[in-house]
Amino acid sequence: MTGTAAGAAPAFVEVKRLAVTYGDAPILEGVSVGVAEGALVTIVGASGCGKSTFLRILLGQERPTGGTVAIDGAPIAPEPDPNRGIVFQKSSVFPHLTVRGNLMLPFEIAGGGPLARLFGARRRAARQKADAMMERIGLAHAADRYPAQLSGGMQQRLALGQALLPRPKILLLDEPFGALDPGTRREMQALLVELWRETGMTVFMVTHDIQEAFDLGTRILVFDKIRHDPQHPHAYGATITYDIPLKGPVAEALRPATPANLNVKDAF
Ligand SMILES: Nc1ncnc2c1ncn2[C@@H]1O[C@H](COP(=O)(O)OP(=O)(O)OP(=O)(O)O)[C@@H](O)[C@H]1O
Ligand SMILES: [Mg+2]
Repeated sequence: MTGTAAGAAPAFVEVKRLAVTYGDAPILEGVSVGVAEGALVTIVGASGCGKSTFLRILLGQERPTGGTVAIDGAPIAPEPDPNRGIVFQKSSVFPHLTVRGNLMLPFEIAGGGPLARLFGARRRAARQKADAMMERIGLAHAADRYPAQLSGGMQQRLALGQALLPRPKILLLDEPFGALDPGTRREMQALLVELWRETGMTVFMVTHDIQEAFDLGTRILVFDKIRHDPQHPHAYGATITYDIPLKGPVAEALRPATPANLNVKDAF
């Protein structure tokens, strides 16, 4: 199932017969999928089956060995561009910059490279946007702290904020909440769903937590090998074996696990 009928207009993200081979080891083969704009696609699959590789292809960080990937009707650009942002499992924010510094960075890069300083009105506008995002991700009180002085959840909120500031049309998330405790993970899931609804962006999120995949996604893709040779376990690549439409983020799953929002009367 590809999500696009033959002859229909291409989907927002259109992947056709994608193949990736490292050396002579096929990693992905025959991956075809069409994803509508605004979808929240969750991706699950065994460790090493090529999920991160798939995200790197969508990011434009890597070229496929075969097949095509088009976004909004155009072949994917050969390198990352501001239309696509990524957040990894381990925070990828810059350790030597404060929270505010990290959030200003996307504007400094857009202004001429990481060493280019912004001045005057442009700097003020960038700072305003950075501060608004800081508020939005709940880090306003930590503006001058460095990443090492933040909790894991705060670091991931910062990484999410940084990825969102260039207003990407596609957000790629590689196990973004995998290293967080269950309470923080729920808060982050709720924040992600809020931001997804506000921006209308298309999200691809890899997770090892099948429950999270079902709770958050509007669609779940399962990557697996359809052929397996026990003598040569690396002889075949993985493809999409299940492609299941879902209702979308499950409200109950996003409620905080803490009883903080319980009405006192409920306790009796
Ligand atoms: N640059 C590379 N060169 C050679 N092999 C690579 C490279 N990147 C990844 N691989 C191999 O490709 C396979 C898929 O890797 P990938 O990181 O995409 O898997 P994954 O599904 O994200 O796994 P995990 O769930 O553990 O994160 C692995 O066998 C890995 O060793
Ligand atoms: Mg991975």
